[in-house]
Amino acid sequence: MKILVTGGLGFIGSHTVVELQNEGFEVVIVDNLSNSSIEVLDGIERITNKKPLFENIDLRDKKSVQDFFVKHQDIDGVIHFAASKAVGESVENPLLYYENNINALVYILQELQAKAKANFIFSSSCTVYGQAETMPITENAPVQQAMSPYGNTKQIGEEIILDVAKVSNINAILLRYFNPIGSHPSAEIGELPLGVPQNLVPFITQTAVGLRKELSVFGNDYPTPDGTAIRDYIHVVDLAKAHVVALQRLLENKNLDKVETFNIGTGTGSSVLEVIYAFEKVSNQKLPYKIVGRREGDVTEAYANTDKANNVLGWKAKSSLEEALASAWKWEQKIKK
Ligand code: NAD
Ligand code: WQD
Repeated sequence: MKILVTGGLGFIGSHTVVELQNEGFEVVIVDNLSNSSIEVLDGIERITNKKPLFENIDLRDKKSVQDFFVKHQDIDGVIHFAASKAVGESVENPLLYYENNINALVYILQELQAKAKANFIFSSSCTVYGQAETMPITENAPVQQAMSPYGNTKQIGEEIILDVAKVSNINAILLRYFNPIGSHPSAEIGELPLGVPQNLVPFITQTAVGLRKELSVFGNDYPTPDGTAIRDYIHVVDLAKAHVVALQRLLENKNLDKVETFNIGTGTGSSVLEVIYAFEKVSNQKLPYKIVGRREGDVTEAYANTDKANNVLGWKAKSSLEEALASAWKWEQKIKK
């Protein structure tokens, strides 16, 4: 079975390629290296003993997407990770986000629509729920007005897929990720943020390794037990494995709706302070931090009800927060060298 993984050199994509190859899938990666490095291919090879096929293509170029599918007519499934993902940058430059996250999706779906049968997995996000009214969040919680152009591209992306699936042979699974963290336990691949990290865990590990002076905790006046905001942090390897089972479900095509949506999280919420304390425990060192004001656009809490993924996909996150943080720490120490 041959699987196209767009954005397969990125953080989540690279970990998913490893799990796909471990399960015997043949992988073709398409990536334009806009937020990743070609060395990731070697990391994947060191873990799996197999180098995936790689095509350096910018998915915003429709002709290149068409040519890709002419060359690779035997694709059995597509996992579409490629996108721009920085929330703040999307506010500054919305058209960059609409072009990259929407045009590329449309061009791929146009090629899949022409096929007799196609399987498609889309990287969506818990950001579509905004501040949900009840915790944990089920897939039936309403999609809220997007808080950023980035978030809007995920909502529009989901809608485009729903519309196209109705009139084509495309079956799709939308995976709404909660907060992916960590790295492969081998520390051969991991997260490579460009510039100053916006996300909590890379900022913590960069602080601990000495690249940043201290972590700013954005707000301790939230209506939560310790006043800091709560999220559902999922180990990227668990998240990667969810893609493999979702793909297997599409390929088996049993009792499948045209488009299915799953929350992919651990089901447990952790506050910013809990993450800091867990990190201090696994790294055996104090983390310098200060409390500052809230960050604009942040929600108070978001954690997943994962019953649907557990029951329908037969998937469950296995790693603890400590294990995920330990892997992130191992990776940070390695890339510092
Ligand atoms: P990432 O930036 O590490 O990976 C994305 C990859 O796509 C990069 O390798 C980049 O070079 C590539 N890419 C971007 N635009 C491209 C284009 N036009 N043509 C070809 N390649 C292109 O991001 P990630 O964290 O691995 O996220 C993967 C997906 O998951 C994205 O769709 C993201 O929006 C979504 N997501 C991420 C998170 C998160 O917290 N990391 C949470 C929810 C959803
Ligand atoms: C987590 C918590 C911060 C940094 C973002 C996107 C979302 C999704 C994942 C893709 C929050 C706090 C953070 C720091 C802090 N991406 N924090 N100091 O905000 O849940 O989600 O990434 O779809 O769309 O919005 O994740 O890691 O940025 O923050 O106190 O330096 O850590 O306020 O409470 P978030 P995050």
